[in-house]
Amino acid sequence: MITEILIAVVLVALLIKASIRPSNFPPGPRGLPLAGYIPFLSKLDPEYPHLGLKKLADQYGPVTGFYLGPSQPFISVCGYEAIKEALYNDDLAGRPNNAARRERTFGQRLGVVHNDGPEWQEQRRFTLRHLKDLGFGKTSSEGLIREEIDDLMDEIRLQSWRNQPVDFKGMFNLSLINILWALIGGQRFKRDDVRLARLLDIVDCFIHSANFTRANIPVPTIFLRLFPSTTRNFLGLRNDLFTPLQDFIRDRIQEHVTDRSDDEQRDFIDVYLQEMTKRQSEGDSSFHENQLIGVIIDLFIAGAETTSGSLGFALLYLLHHPEIQQKIQKELDQVCGDSLPQLAHRSSLLYTEAALMEAQRLANITPLAVAHKALRDTHLQGYFIPKESIVTVNLFTVHHDNEFWKDPEMFRPERHLTPDGRKLIKTDHLLPFSAGKRACLGEPLARNTYFLFMSSLLKAFEFRPIPDRPLPTLKPKNGLTLGYDGFEAIVTPRT
Ligand code: HEM
Repeated sequence: MITEILIAVVLVALLIKASIRPSNFPPGPRGLPLAGYIPFLSKLDPEYPHLGLKKLADQYGPVTGFYLGPSQPFISVCGYEAIKEALYNDDLAGRPNNAARRERTFGQRLGVVHNDGPEWQEQRRFTLRHLKDLGFGKTSSEGLIREEIDDLMDEIRLQSWRNQPVDFKGMFNLSLINILWALIGGQRFKRDDVRLARLLDIVDCFIHSANFTRANIPVPTIFLRLFPSTTRNFLGLRNDLFTPLQDFIRDRIQEHVTDRSDDEQRDFIDVYLQEMTKRQSEGDSSFHENQLIGVIIDLFIAGAETTSGSLGFALLYLLHHPEIQQKIQKELDQVCGDSLPQLAHRSSLLYTEAALMEAQRLANITPLAVAHKALRDTHLQGYFIPKESIVTVNLFTVHHDNEFWKDPEMFRPERHLTPDGRKLIKTDHLLPFSAGKRACLGEPLARNTYFLFMSSLLKAFEFRPIPDRPLPTLKPKNGLTLGYDGFEAIVTPRT
């Protein structure tokens, strides 16, 4: 009897301890003892986590705190002021570390996106510097991007022959992987390459089977070992999908090991292998083959779906707004004459640029960015944020800020131009690539790719909805990023 009473007392004491929050913790819902707010997460908004977290902000304020389970603090940050403070607080520039995420990279913490500390800093700096040297985001990569645009335009011409509708489902992914792979592995794939189709399926399936908030639930490693598929499905993190991608990348690295030369750096893999050899002869190093595989997986996952989603949504918005499409085309004709747009034309294509900015604002491809983590105890908007808290920045709430944008639901490119239309208005209320230490590493390449693809397609073709059919939906496909649902359109060449 005494033992039972003691166990009950210990349990009650544990429950009480678990439900005590640190003083000055951000306001938020309590949830249940031990489970915290986990059982209610998907009820907030069954489809879109960013809308669910916004509902909490409407109730509790811009910085909301709750617990996932007994001990994992989760901080949801909404609205421009709080988000800006969070992104520029280096104490919040960590990334959550859990077993499910580490599965992506052989059970270790590797790569750029889900890493932090000195290893992340070293890998991020190296990747950015050398991708830049290889032409990333510079005019020297324009030829590479142009090659993919030409290929895509041939595909569109082929599909649209005799006014057949063109199917845009997955249309851009191949071009984007090819641009990345040319920089990373020095090759491009053909549209009908079956290996590539498989890789694209993996990336798509991983991103769109995932759930942003549930992925952060701290599930012990043992669960993942004992019940791998149930745990992965519960978390919405299908890292098991990565094995073929890892194998593919490893094979390409081995090919590079055999045929590379120290005198010529053909691509990122060559540069990385050279650094690996140099560092390993110096002793302890974060540069090794599995790390390289992790970095490449991250570039694929972070780079392809985001840019493809941006292109798909931009076209969708222009199908919904033919008058804006025509205005862009008029500007493209005036500035570029008979040729296709180039990066050099960009500063003269202000209306086009404004329309592309507006499509990015409304598409919200990464509404919650990537989850951040508090590296040490810190403060946000006056609240105490304990070390190890998971922190999400809800970029959607900045892009839909009623006070700033006035009519945020409307697709209105003019809002990004001065009243005389002669200058672009740059504002940090537009944060598709986030900001601060963790801002998107691929921003220069993504911006150039987005601009060159959209402006070239609009210069060469007119895009119209299929007559007598409802307009294709603007409702996004959920996942780690928001994707466009496949759609069809009538595409006619402009002469
Ligand atoms: C329109 C396209 C893109 C959008 C909207 C986008 C957006 C973002 C956002 C919001 C983040 C998270 C920032 C944060 O956590 O605060 C991010 C991170 C990242 N992005 Fe992008 N991205 C795009 C394209 C690319 C491309 C093309 C690449 C690679 C070539 C790339 C590589 C990365 C990497 C590696 C990170 C993680 C950075 C880190 O954790 O240090 N992204 N991106």
